[in-house]
Amino acid sequence: MRIGVLTGGGDCPGLNAVIRGVVRKGVGVYGHEFVGFRDGWRGPIEANTTPLGIEQVRGILPRGGTILGSSRTNPYKVEGGVEAIRENLAKLGVDALIAIGGEDTLGVAKRLTDDAIPVIGVPKTIDNDLGATDYTFGFDTAVTVAMEAIDRLHTTAESHHRALVVEVMGRHAGWIALHAGIAGGANVILVPERPFDVDEVVRHVESRFATQYAPIIVVAEGAVPKDGAEVLSSGAVDAFGHVRLGGVGQWLAEEIEQRTGKESRAVVLGHVQRGGTPTAYDRVLATRFGLHAIDAAHEKDWGKMVALRGTDIIRVPLEEATRELKTVPLERYLEAEVFFG
Ligand code: F6P
Repeated sequence: MRIGVLTGGGDCPGLNAVIRGVVRKGVGVYGHEFVGFRDGWRGPIEANTTPLGIEQVRGILPRGGTILGSSRTNPYKVEGGVEAIRENLAKLGVDALIAIGGEDTLGVAKRLTDDAIPVIGVPKTIDNDLGATDYTFGFDTAVTVAMEAIDRLHTTAESHHRALVVEVMGRHAGWIALHAGIAGGANVILVPERPFDVDEVVRHVESRFATQYAPIIVVAEGAVPKDGAEVLSSGAVDAFGHVRLGGVGQWLAEEIEQRTGKESRAVVLGHVQRGGTPTAYDRVLATRFGLHAIDAAHEKDWGKMVALRGTDIIRVPLEEATRELKTVPLERYLEAEVFFG
């Protein structure tokens, strides 16, 4: 078989490890050929390809980003997009696709499978919010980066008796905030799943100052104040209808400073969480996803996504993969709340 590989959506540490796993087993064990499509779904729409073989995947295991590039292109929003994909695959002699992405990329993969274009999905997101898999690669790296930042911020916050608000990624799900906040010993963690009460945050901040320590508040970019609205960095909307978030940390720091009279600053970790080399956990998970994805393709088990259940890699229908987002359950949040204040 000749198989196309693409990476879509926001990039994520571990994407290259998946590509390497797919190609190494696909060529070495099954004797398949590969074509890399550049920049997510834009690649097959525009027939923008790059060679993909053993040579191209050498040395990429520890590299962040994706050697294939990425984009948030939605073929169902591009005039003639799906037909262009169909024609280009035929022209290039590509039998099937392996699409590595989050809910948007996998949603497209599901629709293409329904439209008789064979696809296997691999779940990817630093947000860890895909319902059908226990973990996605990239999450552990993002949490580690955020935890290290929080560790550093504790020391400088204490030297200056400041409150520091750390804004992390997490549009609909607060997994990064929750895990980084617990691992970093945050005094308050705010997640999109639970609208927060600014008065309560201020109480936690004051009680922390009263013990001669400086408070660190971890806030997910998608967290909203009670009776308030999401804070947006701009009006920009991507091809999947997501508005660009960012700014809740700065907003909250100003509220805290006004209400407590203590200096408060915001730090936005942003894309730092997505960049750089993956942790060992993410390299192993991504590699296993790649190996199992090429097994699924070899068996022509189209319309499936590989997923982690416990310690096993299983296959689930793409439909299940995109059915619901995995958000932070209340009981998990309550565990963290013990340490607030
Ligand atoms: O979807 C993953 C994610 O990390 C979200 O948490 C965040 O809102 C988004 O990507 C930001 O991505 P970009 O700035 O690349 O559009």
